[in-house]
Amino acid sequence: MRAQRLAWAITGSGHYLRESLDILQTLQDVDIYLSRAAAEIIRQYGFQDQLDATGHKVYQDKTASSIPVERFYEGVYHTLVISPATSNTIAKMAYGFSDSLVTNLFAQAGKTRVPSVVFACDTAPELESEAPRDNMVKVFPRQIDLDNVLKLKSFADTAVVEDMATLQFAIMQRLATVHDLYLHTGVQVAEQLAD
Ligand SMILES: Cc1cc2nc3c(=O)[nH]c(=O)nc-3n(C[C@H](O)[C@H](O)[C@H](O)COP(=O)(O)O)c2cc1C
Repeated sequence: MRAQRLAWAITGSGHYLRESLDILQTLQDVDIYLSRAAAEIIRQYGFQDQLDATGHKVYQDKTASSIPVERFYEGVYHTLVISPATSNTIAKMAYGFSDSLVTNLFAQAGKTRVPSVVFACDTAPELESEAPRDNMVKVFPRQIDLDNVLKLKSFADTAVVEDMATLQFAIMQRLATVHDLYLHTGVQVAEQLAD
């Protein structure tokens, strides 16, 4: 069987976009999925070079039925990461919508029991966030934004993380689990061959 990959979705958020791209550069066997807003925001922040530098294949949101999500039913992915995840995408995911590429990835990951790790932009009532041209701005997420994050935390097979260190740790844990599974399979196969 072909080795499974990690799917990473980016939404239209400036908050922790730079850091998400930095982590992406350190990973292998990844496919990147962009929401329509993410494609715009990456250009607006001047991060196209950082995206290209990750070296990963990039899927854009171009179809009404989100055709690439069929890859979850083909067993291509072991994990879905969504980082950064906008208030908009969090709200849609928390209420079960699947009407865009990224919300569809989350829905289909759920329906195929593939674990998701989500970094939500709205983690606290008051945040410092990166705006275009290296400016920092203050953001005050609304109660509904914080409530939606809380709601998402109750979903099965879904880890909602609140900072980049925890995101990195969650990804490493998933990679270690997947790696272990392969190792165990290998051991079992080797034992059967020896019998
Ligand atoms: C410069 C810029 C920065 C933005 N940053 C954020 C952000 O940090 N968090 C957020 O929730 N929305 C942010 N937005 C708004 C989203 O891009 C917008 O809600 C969009 O519809 C989200 O679509 P998506 O969730 O499908 O990616 C930003 C918009 C602009 C123009």
